[in-house]
Amino acid sequence: MRALSGIQPTGRFHWGNYFGAIRQYIALQDNEQAFYFIADLHALTTVREPKLLAEYTHDAAVELLALGLDPKRATLFRQSDVPEVSELTWLLMTVTQMHLLEKCHAYKDKKAKGLPSDAGLFTYPVLMAADILLYDSNVVPVGADQVQHIEVTRDIAARFNSMYGEVLTLPKAHVVEATAKVPGIDGEKMSKSYGNAIEVFEEPKKLRKKIMSIQTDSKPVEEPKDPATSAIFALYQLFATPQQQEQLAARYRAGGMGYGEAKQSLYEASLAYFAEARERRAQLLANEAQVKDILAEGALKAREKGREVLDRVRQAVGLAGTKKPA
Ligand code: TRP
Repeated sequence: MRALSGIQPTGRFHWGNYFGAIRQYIALQDNEQAFYFIADLHALTTVREPKLLAEYTHDAAVELLALGLDPKRATLFRQSDVPEVSELTWLLMTVTQMHLLEKCHAYKDKKAKGLPSDAGLFTYPVLMAADILLYDSNVVPVGADQVQHIEVTRDIAARFNSMYGEVLTLPKAHVVEATAKVPGIDGEKMSKSYGNAIEVFEEPKKLRKKIMSIQTDSKPVEEPKDPATSAIFALYQLFATPQQQEQLAARYRAGGMGYGEAKQSLYEASLAYFAEARERRAQLLANEAQVKDILAEGALKAREKGREVLDRVRQAVGLAGTKKPA
C-alpha cells in the first residue's frame, strides 16, 4: 500500500501541526510505503515572496526530518522537483468538470468574502489530484479539512477511467483525527492564523516567554484549581507521562500552586519532549547539503514512479510516442 501526503511550506510547524497531523503522518512510515512531499507549488498560491518560499520549503524538510521522518523508510521530496505532476495536472484538467471545483471550499470561501482569486486557487484541487494519482497512491492521510479534495480526486480519477479505461488508482482518505486538544496561548484552538501558536522549535527563551503568556483565570495561589478547564494542563498532557499528569492534576486540585508554576512544568516538559528533535534539527541546519541530497534522492525515486504512471496516462489519451522521457 502506498500512503502519500503533502505538507504546505507556509512557515514553521507549531504544536497543533505536530500533534494534530505530522506525528501521525510520520508514524505511517513504519507500515506503509510512504511518500511525503513539500507542496511548494500549492504554497505559491499564498506565499508570494520568492526568498520566503525557498526558506519555508527548506525549513519544512528540516523539521520533518528532525521530528522523525526517516528517509531510509519514507520518500521525502519537493513537489516542484517532479515536473511530471504539472503535466498530469493539465491532462486531468481536461476531464475535470467545472462544478466540482466551484464547490471546493478554499475557492468558495474566498469568493464569498469578495476576495480576489486566481486560476491557481480555483484549480488547486486538480494539482492535488495529480499529486495523488501520479504515484498510484492508495491512502492519503489528511486532516478533516482536506477530505473534500480527496473526494474530488476520486471523482476526477473515476471520470478519467470511465473515458479511457482503468488507468488511474482510486485513493482513499485516511482522516487523521487530532489525538488531543491543542489550545493556543489564548485558549482557542492553536492556529497560525489566530496568532496564538507555539512553534515546535521555538528558541527556549522565547518559548518560555510564550508559555508564560498563556491566558488563565485570576484565581490566587492558595485557591484549588481545575485541571480540566486549564489550557496549561491540556498542553502539559501532550508531553507528560500519565503519572506526571496525575501529579500535576493533584497539585491543581490541592491549591497552593500558582499558574506560573504549572507553566514552568509545561515549559520543562515540552523542552524535554522535543530535546532529541532539537538536536537533530541543529545538525541538519548546519548541514544544508545533506538535506538537499535527501530531497534530491527522494525526487529521483518519486519521479521514477511518476514517469511510469504519466506514460500510462499519455498512452491512454493518445499522446504516446510524442515525447521520450529524458
Ligand atoms: N492541500 C493540502 C493541505 O493544505 C496539501 C496537499 C497538497 C496534499 N497536495 C496534497 C495533501 C496531496 C495530501 C495529498 O494540507
